[in-house]
Amino acid sequence: MDKFIVRGEKKLKGIISVSGSKNAGLPIMAASLLAEGHYILKNVPDIIDIRTMAKLLRILGAKVEFENHELKINTENCSYYEAPYDLVKTMRASIYVLGPLLAKFGKAKVSFPGGCALGARPINLHLEGLQKLGANIEIEHGYINARTKKFQGSEIIFEKRSVGATANIIMASVLAEGTTILRNTSCEPEINALANFLNKMGAEIEGLGTDCLTINGVKDLHPADVTLIPDRIETGTLLLAGAITKGNINVKNCCPMDLGIVLEKLKEIGFSLETENDSIKISGKAKNPIEISTNPYPAFPTDLQAPFAALLSTVKGISIIDENIFSDRFMYISELQRLGADIKLDKNRIVIHGGNKLTGAPLMASDIRATAALVIAALASEGKTEISRVYHLDRGYERLENKLTQLGADIERVEDN
Ligand code: UD1
Repeated sequence: MDKFIVRGEKKLKGIISVSGSKNAGLPIMAASLLAEGHYILKNVPDIIDIRTMAKLLRILGAKVEFENHELKINTENCSYYEAPYDLVKTMRASIYVLGPLLAKFGKAKVSFPGGCALGARPINLHLEGLQKLGANIEIEHGYINARTKKFQGSEIIFEKRSVGATANIIMASVLAEGTTILRNTSCEPEINALANFLNKMGAEIEGLGTDCLTINGVKDLHPADVTLIPDRIETGTLLLAGAITKGNINVKNCCPMDLGIVLEKLKEIGFSLETENDSIKISGKAKNPIEISTNPYPAFPTDLQAPFAALLSTVKGISIIDENIFSDRFMYISELQRLGADIKLDKNRIVIHGGNKLTGAPLMASDIRATAALVIAALASEGKTEISRVYHLDRGYERLENKLTQLGADIERVEDN
């Protein structure tokens, strides 16, 4: 297991490129099960979660090669339909194969994902949606055993917005008989990316970018190639690294349009931002504390809640963050407190009395975005911070330490005994 040794208080400067989006790549990989043949996915981040999904596709019979951010998938011989516990327990997004397997083969056996560092994380919306399309679902020995004859189009109103359930049910309904109407869907850019990809495969999905999708089922789909959209959460993370060090950085190959409210919040704090088509420059200093409320897109993303808390703990005044998506997503707080941050938790709200000097300390990572928050805080901390269990970070960020080092940070990856 690796750990990071960060020596803080170095101003970041320079240009850095963003990788492709993890959360767009994972469902798109699963969607390749919907039509036999050869796919090429470009701009794929080399991270553990993508490799886990590749492993899962191989278990299902696909051939997968991954080199230089290009993923070649051949689904000609997929005949197995079981996603085993060992993989699902390491990555909940494995549930994405459920919809495509059912749509294509009429059967699927997928390990029931348990809780995780973010809390309970139910999958009822995925299962209820599939049942509405005609699936027969039983939970046995920790597995979801699902069967269906051909899915029948239906109207499904999601009780709450779920990125995962929206993606799964879209994939399940593209081959259904008749029309499916999905209401109260997530409209995250990653959902658009998936729907665009499916349309390229021959699907008929209308209403992209809205919370109501109409899907006219088609008889067959064909393989397609795609370049993944830039990772908006990595973009935000890099901007925060620049911001907390009072640096001056230019984040390239990103999509500023996908970061609307995040950029607004950075401006509200006092940073200067210059955006072009595919780049964002950040410079300046923090002046004002702010309030943030996480909610489904286009509102503030929960995945940047912890990284923003790291920044705000260095901003003088009282900042408040309400976490409305994953109410338990606060495991990082006790670690930031070890650096000297003054953060109080009350239910799903944190109150940050910002402006304390942060000083380096040994820290323990707990999930992908929490680890990003610790790295950001460490960049502003005096002296040495050691962050153990950085494999959490490696699940979702491609060698973040190399990108930050390129900008002038002092981060070393060492083996942790
Ligand atoms: C995805 C992202 C994750 C992000 C999250 C919210 C991927 C691989 N992961 O996760 O990075 O933090 O969206 O933007 O894309 N819920 C239910 N029942 C369900 C499903 C979800 O109650 O069947 C609840 C969840 O507990 C949560 C909320 O709905 O409170 C949103 O979760 P969801 O959007 O489904 O998150 P994921 O798709 O798991």
